[in-house]
Amino acid sequence: MGELLEALRRNRDAGICPMHMPGHKRNTALFQMENPYGLDITEVEGFDNLHDAHGILRRAMDRAAALYGSAHTWFLVNGSSCGVLAAVAACTHWGDTILTARNCHKSLYNALYVNNLHAQYLTPPVLPGFEAAGGVTPQSVEEGLRAHPEAKLVVVTSPTYEGVVSDISGIARAAHTHGVPLLVDEAHGAHLGLAEGFPQNAVQMGADLVVQSVHKTLPAFTQTALLHLNGDLVSPRAVERQLSLYESSSPSYLLMASIDSCVSFLTEQGREAFAAYGDRLHRFDEQAEKLRWLRLMGRCGDKSCRLGENGVFALDPSKLVFSASKAGLSGPQLAEKLREAKIEPEMASREYVIAMTSLCDPEEHFRRLADALRALDHPFAAPRCADSPAAWTLPAQSMTIREAEDSEGTVLRAADALGRVCRETVFAYPPGIPLIVPGERVDGVFLDRVRRYRTAGVSLVNPRGDAAETVDVVR
Ligand SMILES: Cc1ncc(COP(=O)(O)O)c(C=O)c1O
Repeated sequence: MGELLEALRRNRDAGICPMHMPGHKRNTALFQMENPYGLDITEVEGFDNLHDAHGILRRAMDRAAALYGSAHTWFLVNGSSCGVLAAVAACTHWGDTILTARNCHKSLYNALYVNNLHAQYLTPPVLPGFEAAGGVTPQSVEEGLRAHPEAKLVVVTSPTYEGVVSDISGIARAAHTHGVPLLVDEAHGAHLGLAEGFPQNAVQMGADLVVQSVHKTLPAFTQTALLHLNGDLVSPRAVERQLSLYESSSPSYLLMASIDSCVSFLTEQGREAFAAYGDRLHRFDEQAEKLRWLRLMGRCGDKSCRLGENGVFALDPSKLVFSASKAGLSGPQLAEKLREAKIEPEMASREYVIAMTSLCDPEEHFRRLADALRALDHPFAAPRCADSPAAWTLPAQSMTIREAEDSEGTVLRAADALGRVCRETVFAYPPGIPLIVPGERVDGVFLDRVRRYRTAGVSLVNPRGDAAETVDVVR
């Protein structure tokens, strides 16, 4: 038996409560399957072809389209990452400009690189205390498109990892007024819009292209995702051409069957499953209301994330985002304490921890999380003081990401790089939004932030792993 399989089995048997992806939550009471070796095939007769679907796969994708109310839907087996790459490429040509939120996933930055795109950024406000991104507003998109009429595409991430949903209807109206398509990276929102109590999804709110990771929040295997297309600003042929570039020519039938089973489950049992899930979340909130030292973002009286402020149009109730800063704990410290209680969170950021729930979490998971939080609800140290900036400022651009990365480079000490054009991405984790990307000029604000983050012990990520003590710049 391989080492990895052994480790997976040990993990399965360790009694850990998985407050993380995948969305099926390894709930084997709800979902069963026979030995996968007996089912795994490639495109044999009668099983269609994902890249030219007319039969069984076409019918499966049409069922997914019907569930989401989409005109065209494609199964993706390389995650939302390949959907973002294909969607951006379908809307742009080499050297075009796009208007994109800065808090996008690296697949968007990869799309900028591959297509040598110029990016004009929308910078969402910072949620006070949590140092997480708020929402993108229609007004900022309108202003961005007026300032950059050459933009060929608008891209936003909604919901964010933390569950902040932007006003996609308003953003779509602004984009369409300028004749520009809107791509929403809804990787974290495949479960939205399918039941009462959850915000609408981006298809319902009028986005042209929507990418969803089915595996993140719904019962389907890791890597499964969907790409939806609506409206007539983008041609389905252009999307299919790009998918044929970015997606495997041997898509796994097990993964595709898992998406189809998920769609059937939602179609046949979704209403009851979401209603029961909503009740479990509600009961959890009743427990969380009693917490005094831990804060739950946007719920239970927390004021850091109010609807209508900081671009927050709606909040995804499935994401439980906790801060223990009042109790003197950082996000990673809180995560460690949860792990000691055998609860594995989705991620820990500087000021918070995300516990990801899904409709496949049994009551027991919520009870274990509530019990663990109750046990941790006391002061550990002096409260941490919030020093997050009110807004993120960006360095000036002088080249595209592609131009900078393709140039000759030299690695300098950070202080000596002032004024030079950066050749690499540096980001603070948290919040994961790049401080600088290739083609941007190293400035005093960037160097200052690097110093501040280093002093605060925030991990800075660059390709050499030297906490941004050095910067790779264009020679
Ligand atoms: C906002 C966002 N978009 C896209 C992706 C890529 O999704 P996938 O892992 O399905 O490729 C991620 C992954 O974490 C993400 O957070």
